[in-house]
Amino acid sequence: MSDTLIENGYTDGDVDTNQTTSVSLETLADARYSRRQAIFGGAKATSLALMGTTMLAACNEDNSESTLVVSAGQNAATSAGRVVILTGSVTAGDANVTSSAWAQNSGPDVDLVVDGLTATFIAPAVETATDLTFGFAVQNADGEAANATTTIRVSPAVLGFSAVAHSLDDIVAVPSGYTVTIMTRLGDPLAAGVGAYANDGTDGDFAQRIGDHGDALHFFGLSSSGTRDDGSSTRGLMVQNHENLNVQYLHPNGPTNVSTGPRPADEAKKEIEAHGVSVSEYVDGGDRQWTYVADSSFNRRITPMTPMQIMGPAAGSAMLATAYSANGTAGRGTINNCANGISGWGTNLTCEENWAGYFRRDAADVALRTERELTALARYGVSVRTGNYAWSTVASTDPMFTKWNATITGATAADDYRNEPNQYGWVVEIDPYDPNSTPRKRTALGRCGHEGAFVRIAAGQKVGVYMGDDSRREYLYKYVSNATWDAGDANASDRLSVGDKYLDNGTLYVAKFEADGTGTWLPLVFGSVPNRPAVGTTPEYVFADQADILINARLAADALGATPMDRPEWTAGNPVTGEIYLTLTNNNASNRPLDGTDAANPRHYGDPKLSGSTSYGNPNGHIIRLREDGDDTAATTFAWDIYLFGADATDFPSDASVNVSGLTTDNDFSSPDGLYFSRDSNPAGQINPVLWIETDDGAMTDRTNCMLLAALPGHVGDGSAVTLTNKDSTGATAQQATIAGTPATAANLRRFLVGPAECEITGIDMTPDGRTLFVGIQHPGEDGTPAAPTSHWPDSQAGTTATTVRPRSAVIAITKDDGGVIGL
Ligand code: FEO
Ligand code: CA
Ligand code: CA
Ligand code: CA
Repeated sequence: MSDTLIENGYTDGDVDTNQTTSVSLETLADARYSRRQAIFGGAKATSLALMGTTMLAACNEDNSESTLVVSAGQNAATSAGRVVILTGSVTAGDANVTSSAWAQNSGPDVDLVVDGLTATFIAPAVETATDLTFGFAVQNADGEAANATTTIRVSPAVLGFSAVAHSLDDIVAVPSGYTVTIMTRLGDPLAAGVGAYANDGTDGDFAQRIGDHGDALHFFGLSSSGTRDDGSSTRGLMVQNHENLNVQYLHPNGPTNVSTGPRPADEAKKEIEAHGVSVSEYVDGGDRQWTYVADSSFNRRITPMTPMQIMGPAAGSAMLATAYSANGTAGRGTINNCANGISGWGTNLTCEENWAGYFRRDAADVALRTERELTALARYGVSVRTGNYAWSTVASTDPMFTKWNATITGATAADDYRNEPNQYGWVVEIDPYDPNSTPRKRTALGRCGHEGAFVRIAAGQKVGVYMGDDSRREYLYKYVSNATWDAGDANASDRLSVGDKYLDNGTLYVAKFEADGTGTWLPLVFGSVPNRPAVGTTPEYVFADQADILINARLAADALGATPMDRPEWTAGNPVTGEIYLTLTNNNASNRPLDGTDAANPRHYGDPKLSGSTSYGNPNGHIIRLREDGDDTAATTFAWDIYLFGADATDFPSDASVNVSGLTTDNDFSSPDGLYFSRDSNPAGQINPVLWIETDDGAMTDRTNCMLLAALPGHVGDGSAVTLTNKDSTGATAQQATIAGTPATAANLRRFLVGPAECEITGIDMTPDGRTLFVGIQHPGEDGTPAAPTSHWPDSQAGTTATTVRPRSAVIAITKDDGGVIGL
């Protein structure tokens, strides 16, 4: 019998070494092989190790011969993140055991959870195959003692699930071996006395309910005594953005006069309050049985009317003065909160994305504005229109409604809301642990259509914040603090004051990508930013001061010659390499024609739909990544490549200019948006961290609903230079050189989840132990009507529902049935 550990190829999480030597090892291996074949349909279960138990008989204290013989189970092999169950047993002699113990003898430290004769642990992250040895010791009632050892060989982490197929079903599909639990849903109560959500359009009280269109989310750990505990995987505060509305489902028969007004006050109030941010307490009732606490004292709603402080260099600017804050240092509320960021000091950064559309400007306003104001309003899309949902048309003087009208109506800026649009487009810091804290808008990070704000903290360096501005042809920004990171600030009690230190004083940069795979960060600093040149009939824009630069960051970035991108969405940083990834969700031919490509936005092609239409441009999007020179957050130069290109593998199985990454139907995707690395507190975020990619797509939705993929990415420069042959709708072609990452394979990219009908997958986080993954399912059934909803999720997750059941955005908790780390 060989005692060699055989390379482990199966995908199960358990290594339950509970066999004794009373049967032959060949029999054991055969039996185990069959069981795994049954679990995984045979094909995926290949070799496994089950060779050579170590079993030592020992002597009792008087050194006379003992009859007690124990086993620590078979040696075995597994990979990082999987559950290992060690089972000791008495194989000969008197089994009247009085005490037993498990201990780790060698290898990287693991947490052994001992229960009687068994011990369980999660296989740790390892660089190369590594042996861990464990000892099992027993005493019996006769005073005899014996011990045995066993060896578990742990290999580096691999994706350990079967790819989820394309799906148009109205459920969340996950791999076999995983379970979905529905958590907080649109309308769920957040305070005692608030009724259960009827979900028929009659509900009110949205300032005390979960909002609509749940987007980015983060789990902030709580100790059993209710204090901040970043290591807790069993209790925490779920902080989630509520970006927008499926407005048709919020009222019994849909909204009244929604595009033109006048709007009924009660409808508008409900819609306003369904935006913002929610904080809700989540608890694990044991073994990852998650529920939320509807009456927790931590629960909070931040709405578009919650008081906010305006902080940083633009605070006090005349351009921020409103009827609420004549000196421009305060504001109310946040709107269209999309992605997020997490500081290193226990706070949440919520990002205001498509805020411009909520504002009304009457035609008369044009003549009342200065040329400078008109340039700025146009650059941010605050155009002459009624505004989303026409909230300002409510017949009321309540600022909840009137503040959405940016038309000049008063004598001065302190008399109306002409500057209210300048109060949005910021990154807003929230302390989730203090429900009474006032959120702070961080103007040093610039004003744009903020998608997300990935915070990079490295010892001895400045704090960096990487931010996409999500519109076509907008830019990637980076903020660098003046202060060097002090680890002592990580656990300070006044978290928002720590935010003042790092987020109010620093330099904002914008990215310029060069064709040779290098790039430059251009500082948005008053005095060095040139005037923004005239464009067509729009005159030159002359910056007045640093506040002007930050409030009109887009104009400053234009003036600096930043690289326009294919809609910058989320940013995420690899916790091991420090490399920054950015989703570029898509672009179209009218915004970026065939001759508008560049190395960083290189593709132009047509993707056909089953309906017969074809979308030209970059309909499937890509993911770019960069590495700071010197791995320094404050570097002003970097290297970049394109990690991954989205594509429809059915239409383009082998076209190297479209399906550049070599996707298959097991891992093809379109319009990447949410982006997240597994936390570095568990094996999925260590050594070679798992990257999670969420889609918000309209291009491949003829084949499949939106999805979540898991990836094991490499690093900047792991691929090669390529030249793509682009083609537009006329058949004209053009060559574009770029730098592609290493191609996708079944081992490094796999579809993990497909969502319900008409949803977007957005928002993602995991517990620190990596054994629960929280994912946001946004706007299922967004194209339906109250009379004919086009999704019935999440009710549909449990089976068939009545055809009248309305869909709700919701958070789900995904757990692995064997308790292992998600994805591995
Ligand atoms: Fe709210 Fe750019 O997605
Ligand atoms: Ca297609
Ligand atoms: Ca998004
Ligand atoms: Ca989106």
